[in-house]
Amino acid sequence: MHPVRLRTVAEASAWARASCREGRITALVPTMGYLHEGHLSLMREAKRRADRVAVSIFVNPTQFGPSEDFSRYPRDLDGDTAKCASAGVDVVFCPEAAELYPEGHQTRVEVGDLSKGLCGEKRPGHFRGVATIVTKLFALLRPDVAVFGEKDFQQLQVVKAVARDLNLGVEVVGMPTHREPDGLAMSSRNAYLSADERARAAAISRSLFAAQKRVKEYSADVRQLVTVVRADLAAANLREDYVEVVDAETLKSVGELRPGRPARLLVAAYAGSTRLIDNVGL
Ligand code: PAF
Repeated sequence: MHPVRLRTVAEASAWARASCREGRITALVPTMGYLHEGHLSLMREAKRRADRVAVSIFVNPTQFGPSEDFSRYPRDLDGDTAKCASAGVDVVFCPEAAELYPEGHQTRVEVGDLSKGLCGEKRPGHFRGVATIVTKLFALLRPDVAVFGEKDFQQLQVVKAVARDLNLGVEVVGMPTHREPDGLAMSSRNAYLSADERARAAAISRSLFAAQKRVKEYSADVRQLVTVVRADLAAANLREDYVEVVDAETLKSVGELRPGRPARLLVAAYAGSTRLIDNVGL
């Protein structure tokens, strides 16, 4: 069945109220659209966990910096709605920006330390925008569960903190990154890549998986791991934004790997002018 499109705050609230009245478990998959197989896997997980699934499609202006790709971010609402239909989604919430940020909107949600390093440092204000829009979506659609991808690992930790700290009553679930056959993490931004950039971009995941293997096989030194990943990026002519090993919960840099303390290796790098991110658990 084709999902119902909700375009206004009033329609979204009415849907949430009705679902609650009817005692339905609801799940939300927040997206910025231009959906790919990774998004569809989140929708299928949402469907497993809930009676009703909502997908939001909204290119959120407040999470883009002034020189970032907000205006050219790829959009395809009809194609996206058909994909949502194939995943059994019940409603698609796709408001205009003025509906969510009307004149006079002046509230932002700010998360502490988790949002400061990594992408937070490289993209000032980004996580304030993410935390704000996600809080608004949770308030409007009132999901019991919300499903996010681990590709945006820092975003997932930030959203978990928002849900916990503001007592929003929503379970935030993270799902493994979906990958192309050569390992490249699926992302709507991959559409920007030229054929040459696309081929070189696969070096990111190749390097991450090689690092993961080194750690499994002979417990590697953190500094050496980072040095090798940096060299792999440079060899593929990818410009590093950051390469870091952090504690998987606090996202603070770690100097050494310790058994029983999950760590994460995260990379942001440019292929041409396209910024790509990826990460693996260590
Ligand atoms: O990951 C995304 O697509 C966005 O950051 C999100 C969570 C939908 C908020 O705009």
